[in-house]
Amino acid sequence: MDVEILGRVLSTLPEDDDHPYRTGPWRPQTTEWKADDLEVVGEIPADLDGLYLRNTENPVHPALERYHPFDGDGMVHAVGFRDGRAFYRNRFVQTDGLLAEREAGGPLWAGIAEHPGKSLRRDGWGARGRMKDASSTDVVVHAGVALTSFYQCGDLYRLDPLTLETLGKSDWGGMFPSCGVSAHTKTDGHTGELLFFNYGKDAPYMHYGVVDAGNRLVHYTEVPLPGPRLPHDMAFTENYAILNDCPLFWDPDLLAKGHHAARFRPDLPTRLGVLPRRGGASEIRWFEAEPTYVLHFVNAYEEGDEIVLDGFFQGDPEPKDIGDGGFYQRMFRFLALDRMQTRLHRWRLDLRTGRCREERLSESITEFGVLNNTYAGRRHRYAYAASGVAGWFLFNGLVKHDLLTGAEERYDLPEGVYGSEPAMAPRVGSTAEDDGYVVTLTSDMNEDRSECLIFDAARPADGPLARVLLPERISSGTHATWAPGSAIPGWAGTDPPATAAGL
Ligand SMILES: [Fe+2]
Repeated sequence: MDVEILGRVLSTLPEDDDHPYRTGPWRPQTTEWKADDLEVVGEIPADLDGLYLRNTENPVHPALERYHPFDGDGMVHAVGFRDGRAFYRNRFVQTDGLLAEREAGGPLWAGIAEHPGKSLRRDGWGARGRMKDASSTDVVVHAGVALTSFYQCGDLYRLDPLTLETLGKSDWGGMFPSCGVSAHTKTDGHTGELLFFNYGKDAPYMHYGVVDAGNRLVHYTEVPLPGPRLPHDMAFTENYAILNDCPLFWDPDLLAKGHHAARFRPDLPTRLGVLPRRGGASEIRWFEAEPTYVLHFVNAYEEGDEIVLDGFFQGDPEPKDIGDGGFYQRMFRFLALDRMQTRLHRWRLDLRTGRCREERLSESITEFGVLNNTYAGRRHRYAYAASGVAGWFLFNGLVKHDLLTGAEERYDLPEGVYGSEPAMAPRVGSTAEDDGYVVTLTSDMNEDRSECLIFDAARPADGPLARVLLPERISSGTHATWAPGSAIPGWAGTDPPATAAGL
């Protein structure tokens, strides 16, 4: 392994920190690494070609009062595979908030579990206002550039996908929305488009937009809602975008007093909004479904007069005090998949009748489901999802769902080893939906290290084909993506791949 340290930050976190989401598998890193020719146990398939990118919440400073794991500063990890070899990079996203707090030497903004009025700065981003845009939730690759995003809305930070150097922020020719963009932007590999939404406390409460393959904002429309809502994800088909209005949102009475407390309203339906991909507000059709909260959708596609939408239904979107845990386990019960009872679910939206039919697709508790992105917006058969540790926001296994037969294949990580959101990497020359590899990163508390695991996407239960050793144990985090080498400028023809800086 050929290792170089690119940078180090000065953390002001307490040495005797006892916050469970800043210690153990969530221990943040302070070092930025560049490591080539990583040590491998097993063999990296020669037809695995591209980048696995993962965003993590990686706090540099303590919270003003109460840290929430989604407040941490964005740090992106990249593991690249080429010609049977692997390289690794990790860099902080150089957000405006990170730079300001580093200069101040401490926290300036209240986090998600704190009152925004506590913020030391009057400015800031987010659906709540006065937040630091940590850009730590999600990462996708669009138009050859990695884009990081924040689930409370903010900028899209542009990173060179190879060096992870922050190149700046999406501007879209001065058209970037003033209320920001949410996490879970969607890329359609068939058209090269980026689809996105945002939300906030001011009417119309949501917008939706499209950026084309040339990185131009070509569509932006209001999506009027009955009030402030907390959408987290969206979906799309070849012809439609699908947005949601779930009955879990800030209590309006408390919101009037400046408190942001999410409450589940089982007396209200889930509403799923369908509009043509370039359609306006008057063309949105809302379908009513069983009340729940959907954190993540897997995919959607058209089938006859219906839109088929797969995602994770929460049996208990507002889990009550779990009792057996301590303060932090009670505080973060909303992050535990077993408490929220997240199960794979299918909504069928009939464009002819306006009705919605629903079915549960699995009894297993899984979330963070991904698919072969070549099938995004098209009919898919497989979903690769994570299983969770009881009571905590940690992943302990990988589940392949066959949505045609209902079969499930599971790979459980050893006790004390935690995975990341998987990504499906189609094999170069792939001929079937599951012809490729599933990639995930681990935080191994037994060996105090991290590995990148590569599975055969057709048979993940067989265990990893290869384990790639990273230079340092990384923190747990949220979302990941796969970018084929063919989507990365400078990838082919040079060794090591040239950077995309300047795009
Ligand atoms: Fe998410």
